Amino acid sequence: KSDLYQQSLLTLLDLSPQQIYDLIDDAAALKAAKARGEETPQLTGKNIALIFEKTSTRTRCAFEVAAFDQGAQISYLGPSGTQIGHKETMKDTARVLGRMYDGIQYRGFGQEVVETLAAHAGVPVWNGLTDDFHPTQVLADLLTMQEHSDKPLNQIAFAYVGDARNNMGNSLLVGAAKMGMDLRLIGPKAYWPEADLIATCQDIAANTGATLTLTEDTAAVNGCDFVYTDIWVSMGEPESAWAQRVADLIPYQVNPSLMAATANPHAKFMHCLPAFHNDETGVGKQIADQYGLNGLEVTDAVFESEQSIVFDQAENRLHTIKAVMVATLVNAST
Ligand code: CP
Ligand code: NVA
Repeated sequence: KSDLYQQSLLTLLDLSPQQIYDLIDDAAALKAAKARGEETPQLTGKNIALIFEKTSTRTRCAFEVAAFDQGAQISYLGPSGTQIGHKETMKDTARVLGRMYDGIQYRGFGQEVVETLAAHAGVPVWNGLTDDFHPTQVLADLLTMQEHSDKPLNQIAFAYVGDARNNMGNSLLVGAAKMGMDLRLIGPKAYWPEADLIATCQDIAANTGATLTLTEDTAAVNGCDFVYTDIWVSMGEPESAWAQRVADLIPYQVNPSLMAATANPHAKFMHCLPAFHNDETGVGKQIADQYGLNGLEVTDAVFESEQSIVFDQAENRLHTIKAVMVATLVNAST
C-alpha cells in the first residue's frame, strides 16, 4: 500500500494512480465503517488548522466533521481575523502554524500560496481549493463515479461541460489522465485549461491509457456515463464577468436535451456545487432572470432529476477528506 505519511496534497499531479485508488478505497472503507457505527478514531490528539481565504460550505464542514469523527481538534481561520497576507507573509505563517498543528488545510487564491505554505510548514498541507486546483473535490467525484458505475474508473467516459479554465476543469483533466479515463472536455476553446497543463495531462494519458478529448462540440457527450459542470463565474472572479460568460457558455448549459445527447438513459449529472441553478430565491435566479434564461450552467429539470448525483458528491467530500487526513497523518508502517 502506498505511503502518503507526512505528504502534502496540493494537486492530484502529486499522487500516483495507485495512491489515488488507495485513497478512494480508504474513503469507501471509512464511509462503510461510519455507517455501521464502527468508525475507529485514528487522529486522537491531532490538531488541524483550517485556513479559508475564500468562503466554503462543503469543504469546511467536511474537514471539520472528518476531524471530529477521527478524534482530532480543529481551528478555523476565516477570511478575516488573522494576520495572514496583511501583516505577515505566508512563509512566516507556515512556520508558526507548523509549530502548533499536525496538518493544515488551505483554501485561497494563487496555487503558489499553498505551495509556499507546504514548503515551510513542516507538516502536511491540503489544498482545499485554489484558483488552479481543487484536488479533494476530484477524489470525492471519483469515489462517487465508482459508486454509481459497474465499471472500473478506466472504463468510464465522462463529459465536463462549460467553463474548464478553472480549478475544476484543471483538476478533472488531471484526475481523468491519472485514472486512465475517457474525458470529453467540452466548451469554447477560450475556456479550455492552459496549453501546458493539457500537454502535461496528455503525457500522463499516454502512460495510463486515458483518452482526453477537448472540443467545442456538445455532440461529444455521446456515450458518456456522467455529465459534469461547474459554475460559470468562480470565486475570486468579478461579478461583471457574468454577461460575457452567459453569452459564451449558454450553448453548453446542461439541460434535458444535452443529457439526452449522451444517448445513455443511465447517464448521471454531476456538479461540485455551489450551483447557480434556477432556484426561487438565490443569486442564480436573479442572474438567469436578468439574461432571460431558464437556469445557468444547469437547469432545474436536470439538477432535480433522478439523474442528479450532486448530493452524493457532496457527502463524499467528508469521506475522501477523512481518508486524506488519515493517510497523511497516521504512520501506516508502525
Ligand atoms: N464543492 C466545494 O468545494 O464547495 P464549498 O465551496 O462549499 O466548499
Ligand atoms: N470553480 C468553483 C468551484 C467551487 C467549489 C469556484 O472556484 O468557485
